[in-house]
Amino acid sequence: MSRMISSGSSLNRRSLLLGTAGLVTAASAFRFPTPAIAQGAPLKVGFMLPYSGTFAKLGKFIDDGFRLYVEQQGGALGGRRIEFVQVDDESKPETATDNMNRLVGREKVDVVVGTVHSGVAMAMVKVARDTNTMLVIPNAGVNEATGPMCAPNIFRTSFSNWQVCEPLGKVMFDAGHRKVATITWRYAAGQQMVGAFGEGFKKVGGTVIEDLALPFPEVEFQALITRIATLKPDAVFAFFAGGGAVKFVKDYAAAGLNKSIPLYGAGFLTDGTIPAQGESANGLRTTLHYADDLDNPANRKFLADFKAKTGADGDIYAVQGYDAGALLHEGLKAVKGDWSARNDVVRSMRAARIDSPRGPLSFNAAGNPIQNIYLREVRNGRNELVSIAGQAVNDPARGCRVS
Ligand code: PHB
Repeated sequence: MSRMISSGSSLNRRSLLLGTAGLVTAASAFRFPTPAIAQGAPLKVGFMLPYSGTFAKLGKFIDDGFRLYVEQQGGALGGRRIEFVQVDDESKPETATDNMNRLVGREKVDVVVGTVHSGVAMAMVKVARDTNTMLVIPNAGVNEATGPMCAPNIFRTSFSNWQVCEPLGKVMFDAGHRKVATITWRYAAGQQMVGAFGEGFKKVGGTVIEDLALPFPEVEFQALITRIATLKPDAVFAFFAGGGAVKFVKDYAAAGLNKSIPLYGAGFLTDGTIPAQGESANGLRTTLHYADDLDNPANRKFLADFKAKTGADGDIYAVQGYDAGALLHEGLKAVKGDWSARNDVVRSMRAARIDSPRGPLSFNAAGNPIQNIYLREVRNGRNELVSIAGQAVNDPARGCRVS
């Protein structure tokens, strides 16, 4: 059962708990009309994010980050007031099409911002293409969204699964590791990140000796950790995130493997999770498009304002939500808030150059970020910058025909 939550005034309290039964399921058979909006009416943004489950904190931080950006602009983007509707997608691909159809068809949102989970995002991309709805993906890295499924109305302010992991192959090889085992959840993000790491590692001469996986979102890691101890690789590459990442890193250390087999991963392994992981995260090296101590004015302001708004330390998820706000601002600013000029909005968004807390952020023709990928290490309770693993890394956008 998904939950719809409105923070605008259009839905009453009774509509906070809505099921998905009775919704149109064959999205591709329908074309929803573009909502007609008077110039002065608020632009309606639909958040489709996980507000429950293993990715709940990630969804909340994306939501908080986006709202922070809007608040910094006085509640408007490009002069256009913003209204929000939220749906909890629970990171469940099986209800994703219905949830997206609800936002587009019934709620008539102008823009959808979502989501975290790659499988859910794939369903959202299909509906966005079929209905020509603007979609801004603030996390999910599924390569296809800015690859074969790319479209002018689809943007991403996060990363592709390929982009964050391919550079780690060389980093690990240069650290002296030759034989590596991988471990992840068996779904699109895990498989694509493992594939990208393997591509980078094999290119420079490394060997992946075994790929280990368990179903999403399971956290019974013990048998696989025992298998790693038996294999004795030089190092391990892992992708887990949210609650699952907290437990994996703790279990790995509890088994004593952190002393003998260095653990590396996509930066999600330690982003937003260190307070819960405690000492077990110390020394972990990961690659990501962010580091907590990036010393630039945009990051300093973002971290201070995020802390003041929420009481929490910002992380990559909050940055990606914040930058989704910034991207929409660029589009709306170019047309002075006039959404009926949507082709110009899209053009300006594709051409945007954002001074992001992560560093310079621009977009390729497929709508995927071009950005630095940083090597970080967990020290002093945060992900501290070690070096730049890749400067202005572009995703190959394999299969995308938008140019
Ligand atoms: C994904 O499913 O694409 C995903 C989920 C959580 C992350 C990163 C990627 O932290």
